[in-house]
Amino acid sequence: MTARIIDGNALSAEVRGQLAERAAALKTKGITPCLAVILVGEDPASAVYVRNKVAACEKAGMRSLRDVYAPDVDPAVVFARIAELNADPTVHGILVQLPLPKHFDSEAVLEAISPEKDVDGFHAENVGALMQGNPRFIPCTPYGVMKMLESANVPLKGAEVVIVGRSNIVGKPMAMLLLAQSCTVTICHSQSRDLAFHTKRADILVAAVGRAKMITGDMIKPGATVIDVGINRTPEGKLCGDVDFETAKEVAGAITPVPGGVGPMTITMLLANTLEAAERTQMRCAK
Ligand code: GUN
Repeated sequence: MTARIIDGNALSAEVRGQLAERAAALKTKGITPCLAVILVGEDPASAVYVRNKVAACEKAGMRSLRDVYAPDVDPAVVFARIAELNADPTVHGILVQLPLPKHFDSEAVLEAISPEKDVDGFHAENVGALMQGNPRFIPCTPYGVMKMLESANVPLKGAEVVIVGRSNIVGKPMAMLLLAQSCTVTICHSQSRDLAFHTKRADILVAAVGRAKMITGDMIKPGATVIDVGINRTPEGKLCGDVDFETAKEVAGAITPVPGGVGPMTITMLLANTLEAAERTQMRCAK
């Protein structure tokens, strides 16, 4: 059996088309959705992500601002810029690309972003709202995964879900979203004993650890849905996920590829959150 491919590029194109229509409708009311992206340092992967985010905004008819700072910038400069963006009514979303250099207090930076403009959903207020089952901004990668599961008609109620990875960006919010859909959720991490014992029980397996091809076919339950959040490079420089696609696709029922799986959906949901933020300002003005 070869798994059904859950195509993130195709779903992204469909959702981005709908977002572009909503952005155009908002423009007729005098509001152009605008995302401000801040990048500190010269990490090549982060630079590519930021470039892709900015390009996606333009393509969807949204405005974007990009501020790039040297790796040794004084954090006060970045805090001042965030304050300026918070106060600017033409800016609807603010994103600080992570990771930040070591001399930054990342948590303090995320807390400095106005919760109403926190389109990453990383501010403690938004994390708390998600935890309480009343999300205001859903972190983009888990949000994209939920859209993919929905589009692929994967049953969620009562499903055994295993998430490998406990990050604030993916693992933890992913668990909250799936729990809200009545899944039974297990989170595994680097200290978990017998990882394969857990993964083999999963109807839905989400890999989000950042280690190339660490989930192999023999760790997957036959017919399971496998979501690969990883973006890694092989020693030969080829992009690959956390899942060994070649062996996994022979066992899984459905699987997301890398590239062309979760990655494009992350950017799509960032656009969705930015648009949503802009629409909320319009609703506040109309009241
Ligand atoms: N670094 C890796 N993923 C993300 C993300 O979703 N948002 C931000 N801001 N930084 C990241």
